[in-house]
Amino acid sequence: MLWRAMRESGFVPTLSEGVRHLPGFLDRAAQEALVEAVRAVVREAPLFVPVMPRTGKEMSVRMTNCGSLGWVTDKERGYRYQEVHPITGKPWPAIPESLLALWADTAGYPAPPQACLVNFYTETARMGVHQDRDEDEFAAPVVSVSLGDSCLFRIGGTRRGDKTVSVKLQSGDVVVMGGAGRLAYHGVDRIYPGTSTLLRSPGRINLTLRRVTKPGSDAAT
Ligand code: SIN
Ligand code: FE2
Repeated sequence: MLWRAMRESGFVPTLSEGVRHLPGFLDRAAQEALVEAVRAVVREAPLFVPVMPRTGKEMSVRMTNCGSLGWVTDKERGYRYQEVHPITGKPWPAIPESLLALWADTAGYPAPPQACLVNFYTETARMGVHQDRDEDEFAAPVVSVSLGDSCLFRIGGTRRGDKTVSVKLQSGDVVVMGGAGRLAYHGVDRIYPGTSTLLRSPGRINLTLRRVTKPGSDAAT
């Protein structure tokens, strides 16, 4: 309620430098089309259970990817990008055109994204505070899209102890972390079940677009 009142009054919390929150970037029709595209991705590349390096602890989100590279993690080999799905061994499906267009509109970066991580949050899932730093190219921003139930997103500075700001992300919102905000610590503290009618069941989908290699480098596409 407080958040709604604040939003309706036009209040926009100050996020870290280089971090932009674009509320309502995608309208309902665009969100519905994107959910269909995500379903097609999940049919080809099933959701898997990500596991923390070393400890082997399961994360609470379920994941898959599209793009030439996908972000994966397991106990033995840790966080990394790879060209194939960890279970099917098949290449990831292509990034939907609408997401490539969204990147072109928001990233301010001359090359396309290579990876689109699909995170699925059930009502109780969360994402601990972390930096996105498994890429070789930090000149490109991280662009993320929220679909389905709202969440409480927390973002701080580039040091773990920096002050953080919490912002509620709703379906259709986009967050761009670039420049001085590219390595900002961030996480998802909670999902608010029942706040969206977009998905068939409670939960949230987050799509994270990233450039992994520098354009012109060997693995670049
Ligand atoms: C992530 O940082 O990987 C996910 C962020 C989000 O779900 O909004
Ligand atoms: Fe992240």
